[in-house]
Amino acid sequence: MKPSKQHVLLLWILLSSTVINAVEPFSSFKIPNFTETWNSFWGESCNSYWISFNQTGLKADLENKLFGQHIASDIIFKSVSGFMNDDNPKKPLVLSLHGPTGTGKNFVSQLIADNIYKKGYHSKFVHVFSATLHFPHRSEIVTYKSQLQEWIKNGVTNCERSVFIFDEMNQIPPGVIDSIKPYLDYGKVEGVFFQKSIIIFLSNTGADQITKTAVDFWKNGKDREEMMLKDFESFISPIVFNSDQSSFSKSTLIDSCLLDVFIPFLPLEYKHVVQCAMAAMRDKGRQPDENVADRAARSLVYYPKLEKVFAVSGCKTVANRVHLYR
Ligand SMILES: Nc1ncnc2c1ncn2[C@@H]1O[C@H](COP(=O)(O)OP(=O)(O)O)[C@@H](O)[C@H]1O
Ligand SMILES: [Mg+2]
Repeated sequence: MKPSKQHVLLLWILLSSTVINAVEPFSSFKIPNFTETWNSFWGESCNSYWISFNQTGLKADLENKLFGQHIASDIIFKSVSGFMNDDNPKKPLVLSLHGPTGTGKNFVSQLIADNIYKKGYHSKFVHVFSATLHFPHRSEIVTYKSQLQEWIKNGVTNCERSVFIFDEMNQIPPGVIDSIKPYLDYGKVEGVFFQKSIIIFLSNTGADQITKTAVDFWKNGKDREEMMLKDFESFISPIVFNSDQSSFSKSTLIDSCLLDVFIPFLPLEYKHVVQCAMAAMRDKGRQPDENVADRAARSLVYYPKLEKVFAVSGCKTVANRVHLYR
């Protein structure tokens, strides 16, 4: 403890108790919570004040905030809850999220982080890697491999309960990701325990086939909710493994079954885009207006060309479009 901080803290304790005594019982002055003040004062740490899993919060968020993703919602809730409630997991939880753009892959990663960390997605224990930012050049694979190992090792050394999110996986040069295999495999490497971390891969690989399955379902007059994980499971893994475009191309991670689950994100329909538009207005402190949401949703491009069922870019642009209609 640094002497200067110690002094400030002592001063705070003295002042707050004096203030409380001075104003009580005449006002509704809220007694400062010592634990809260103490923890805020020292900043985010790897302890149960800053990190505690909110299972009901995750369920509510997946049900109320994530639209049109019944498969992802169910699998994510079960796997994250099961993992977080296990005090002694054998290996890290590895989720691989696949689907077209704007369907909620990044968004759901935020919901997971929000329900584990007090600071949510902005926690320093949530590490986001983006292909274009962290691994832009194919010629640098060797450097990236050792950098990535170092980042992960340092992250987990700081806190066992870390989340690593790899965005735009399909653009990460093949081979880079394989460098983290030992951590996923054994849990403990060089005295560092990786078992309690969560790793989330986000990619568009397999999106075309996911979309095709959704279109076929729709054309056959079946309900969207009838789609099940098994309708996608059989094809996603081989596509991801065999595609030259995929960072998992011929990856030992898949070969060794280290990815716990492939989660399909379905293309979004008009009604989901309307829900996104309503949520966007609410988020911005605006009164949600169905007329505005309808116009914003209708301004997007849909496919198949004739039937116009699914939004080409999902909910990606709709939040900004609600400004155009008042
Ligand atoms: N299924 C969804 N439910 C609710 N909001 C969504 C959904 N999909 C996308 N959004 C909204 O659109 C934004 C962009 O989506 P994002 O999660 O970045 O898409 P992806 O990562 O799949 O390309 C999100 O921040 C969120 O506000
Ligand atoms: Mg994304």
